[in-house]
Amino acid sequence: MITSYFKMDINHIDNDIITKCSELLKRGKLVAFPTETVYGLGANGLDEKAIAGIFKAKGRPMDNPLILHVNSMDMVKKFTEEIPSVAYDLAKIFWPGPLTMIFRKNDLVPYAATANLDTVAIRIPSHKVALALITACGFPLAAPSANYSGKPSPTDSAHVYEDLNGKIDAIIDCGKSNIGIESTVLDITGDIPVVLRPGGVSIRQLELLIPNIISEKVTDSSAPKSPGMKYRHYSPEAPLYLVQGENEKVVSKISTLAGNNTGILCSLENMNRYHTGKRICLGSIANSEQLASNLFDSLRIFDKLQVDTIYSEYFEYGEYKEAIMNRLKKASSGTISVT
Ligand code: TXA
Ligand code: MG
Repeated sequence: MITSYFKMDINHIDNDIITKCSELLKRGKLVAFPTETVYGLGANGLDEKAIAGIFKAKGRPMDNPLILHVNSMDMVKKFTEEIPSVAYDLAKIFWPGPLTMIFRKNDLVPYAATANLDTVAIRIPSHKVALALITACGFPLAAPSANYSGKPSPTDSAHVYEDLNGKIDAIIDCGKSNIGIESTVLDITGDIPVVLRPGGVSIRQLELLIPNIISEKVTDSSAPKSPGMKYRHYSPEAPLYLVQGENEKVVSKISTLAGNNTGILCSLENMNRYHTGKRICLGSIANSEQLASNLFDSLRIFDKLQVDTIYSEYFEYGEYKEAIMNRLKKASSGTISVT
């Protein structure tokens, strides 16, 4: 398959490209498109065959449901049984944006999109290109992150190209994703909302609105509520180990372990303290947003550097600490504690 490549400027929506891509999607084809979190691999969310194509192109386990991307609350109403009032409160603040809510689905949503669940994940993205594409299609776009299953999520069209060129019909390139980490997935079908995946809306932001929100189990992989969370994810080629403990001890432990071909994922503050190995700086510990947005790209760079092993500092800093550590733990082969 030849993958068409369309370049677009977020400030100048090219309607010809949007029309071409929506025509492809209407014909059941797969189009990768930018969102503010990460790139998505889109298909008509009401077309079972097209949805099957997503699973095939990504090599995605069949029991991992997809998010439907829509452009309005009216579209949410169209595909759900009932909308709990908390959804309106959340939507008012966080939509369009990096929040995915789980609703009870109605019969219009095929089980192919939900991996046979009676619930459906829905998000209104804020990216102008994503919204233009949904509007031109008139149907929800089922879209997982546009990476090959198990790889770090794509925060740039080049990542999509690396993983899916030749496997999908088109890629819309709109440069780097602004947020760089996926949406927060929130289950609102029960009495108390439960965070299934921390992401672009922080736990703290959600707690301001829902003080009793359940979020503490988000990194407990033994009991996954969100099917996607049980798989090893985001993994660079080389095994990655997290090194946890007091900062001085972490730096000294990693320094002892590192050889010339070792990858080191570190903070800006510690960067110059390592003298062996291939360092990648995730950003300053004072800038949680930056740490989150550099994470997936950094993991992919280690592949290019062909390191043997990666040691990563523990990045429990600031607003996005849960999201960052959730992804790092999924990417890792284990944790080394230094006490
Ligand atoms: O930011 C994002 O969320 C990106 C962009 C493209 O929107 N999408 C994304 O999709 O990250 P994906 O498929 O990589 O992750 C979707 C997550 C998975 O963990 C999946 O298990 C969960 O949402 N999910 C989807 N439907 C669900 C449902 N009905 N119940 C529970 N979890 C669900
Ligand atoms: Mg994904």
